[in-house]
Amino acid sequence: MRARSLVDGYSKQEVGNNPPILTGFFGSFGGRYVAEVLRKPLHELEEAFLSIVPSKEFQEEYQAKLKSFVGRPTPLYYAENTTRLLGGGRLYIKLEGLAATGAHKINNALGQGLLAKRMGKKRVIAETGAGQHGVAVAAVCAHLGIPCRVYMGEVDMMRQKPNVFWMERYGAEVVGVSSGSRTLKDAVNEALRDWASHPEDTFYILGSALGPSPYPDMVRTFQSIIGVETKEQLASLGLKPTALIACVGGGSNAIGFFSPYLYPIDESEERIKGTETSNMPRLIGVEAGGRGPGKGQHAARMSGEGKVGIVQGYKSRFLLDEDGQVLPTHSVSAGLDYPGIGPELAYLGDRGRIEFITATDRQAIEAMDFFARTEGILFALESAHGGAAALRLLPSFSKEAVVVVNMSGRGDKDLFITARELDRERWREFLQREVDSLGDAL
Ligand SMILES: Cc1ncc(COP(=O)(O)O)c(C=O)c1O
Repeated sequence: MRARSLVDGYSKQEVGNNPPILTGFFGSFGGRYVAEVLRKPLHELEEAFLSIVPSKEFQEEYQAKLKSFVGRPTPLYYAENTTRLLGGGRLYIKLEGLAATGAHKINNALGQGLLAKRMGKKRVIAETGAGQHGVAVAAVCAHLGIPCRVYMGEVDMMRQKPNVFWMERYGAEVVGVSSGSRTLKDAVNEALRDWASHPEDTFYILGSALGPSPYPDMVRTFQSIIGVETKEQLASLGLKPTALIACVGGGSNAIGFFSPYLYPIDESEERIKGTETSNMPRLIGVEAGGRGPGKGQHAARMSGEGKVGIVQGYKSRFLLDEDGQVLPTHSVSAGLDYPGIGPELAYLGDRGRIEFITATDRQAIEAMDFFARTEGILFALESAHGGAAALRLLPSFSKEAVVVVNMSGRGDKDLFITARELDRERWREFLQREVDSLGDAL
């Protein structure tokens, strides 16, 4: 049976009864299926992760910077208006989007950045989809004084132009990727290629809980702060969660948010699915339902037709065609259209510990709009998939139930998408005026 890793350092008490081991596998998922040239740097990374991250010096520096640089702890907000309007359970929102650079991504970027520094690496590379991981890495590298290059699919660069601008302001070099679907998976490929060519001096900061071992363990470790903090914040209110809800791209915010409640899995298997009788909360992952069912229209790997495969160095569930080739995907949110899912989430989904559902593009946009008007809280489009699921499920819970949704990011970055969707005409006029005034200025 797969257990939590050795290095959950500050959250060791959350691990449960499973023996702490690091095997790199979650059941048959995970592993390290890479070309020979990447074996040595991955081994070196694993050694550093196991020896440096749990050390007192590392933890002290990391925890101090989480406070002073990232702005932790992020608030746990009681969504009183929504609770009153919808009935059913009480809704809480973990405001992870209030972390520096606007999303949970910085928890992991900071952890890996500090590790890079202690390993004496001279250069950092990263991939990014929505741009939030790229912005977080760029900011961390500026803070730590390490040169940084970010690979980003050309389609994502168009969708998330403001984030490209901000990464460059933080001093990062943003390199457009023109291969494949020109989105996140292609950016990961390019980053792996770069790392294979410069393994000695380069640290690859991977942004989600996926990729070859030890990345899934390492990213979960750095993101577990979300779940640990939420658990403490609930406990200080005398509460225990009935259900936790998070959106799932590669899976880093979800696995971090769920982390105190994932194991021991035997206990979770005894719980009666869909009821509130168990001590363990329901864990609900929300994938991109996109435009609806149909090949290329969504990114539902667990709740759709994901197949077991080995892609980008690890075994998990992916959207694949009959020949095992990766299928195109779609989501209105650039951070949820990755064709695979982190191996630990795939394993826990197959075991029934995590339930997976979808929210469509439209439902996510409506949820974003709802929470802005009802609570004064602006969800990122990725996180709004979790928000949409919370709105759908809340009335089905009893009044005593405590439902917590992770707002993994805030929605400012999505202005160019949401304004087009919700205020098209006025937005078009504004953009036209801007273009005209730029022309006048030239
Ligand atoms: C705000 C936000 N939430 C969620 C995600 C999805 O990533 P993950 O599943 O790794 O949390 C992204 C990815 O870019 C994001 O920017």
